[in-house]
Amino acid sequence: MTIDIHAFIFDLDGVITDTAEFHYLAWKRLADEEGIPFTRQDNEALRGVSRRESLDRLLKGRSIDEATAQAWMQRKNDYYIASLNDITLANVLPGALNLLDEARRAGIRIGLASASKNAQFVLEKLSIIDRFDAIGDGYSVVNTKPAPDLFIWTAGRLDVSPPQAVIFEDSEAGIAAALTGGFWTVGIGHASVDKAHVLLPDLSEARAAAILAALRTTSE
Ligand code: BG6
Ligand code: MG
Repeated sequence: MTIDIHAFIFDLDGVITDTAEFHYLAWKRLADEEGIPFTRQDNEALRGVSRRESLDRLLKGRSIDEATAQAWMQRKNDYYIASLNDITLANVLPGALNLLDEARRAGIRIGLASASKNAQFVLEKLSIIDRFDAIGDGYSVVNTKPAPDLFIWTAGRLDVSPPQAVIFEDSEAGIAAALTGGFWTVGIGHASVDKAHVLLPDLSEARAAAILAALRTTSE
């Protein structure tokens, strides 16, 4: 099968920047305050999923009323936003800028597809918002990852079809969404992304040409 890639679409938290850790710490603080056991391992199941779904997974079947759920999500978000205060370009993960620039030079369009409602704010804080040709975030679609909708929405904005785009993701939900949508996939860093076509520990050594060659190999 020949592959014809015209776009790279990146998840944000845990791929471009390490805000995945800040999401964890904000949920952990809420959980501790409410006496809910919550470990780093529990947090793996929250990677990539929406704020609401994260709360449901954190509660593990405990029931709370809607007003409490809204208040807890707001509180978690307040903790998260406060932790973003000092982030700068230095918080972009190693190799990410190089890959974005190299792909752009090769004529590949660049998209962002994050479940986060804070994605645009984070990109502004990182001073990299101008590097993206299209940005899909937590406001763009109703059905969040593992539904493929956000990637399809972003691909549409980039004027490419799913088989013409590679998704870079650190979450099981994100890789599942991308595969369901018919995209090529690069899984970053965690055992939970092992269904991806290509696996990378992080972006530090990522090169556009090498990724395209590896995808070609998997498609042979
Ligand atoms: C994803 C994160 O990018 O965004 C999840 O991986 C997070 O951890 C989700 O829950 C929603 O983010 P936010 O900023 O809208 O609460
Ligand atoms: Mg992520």
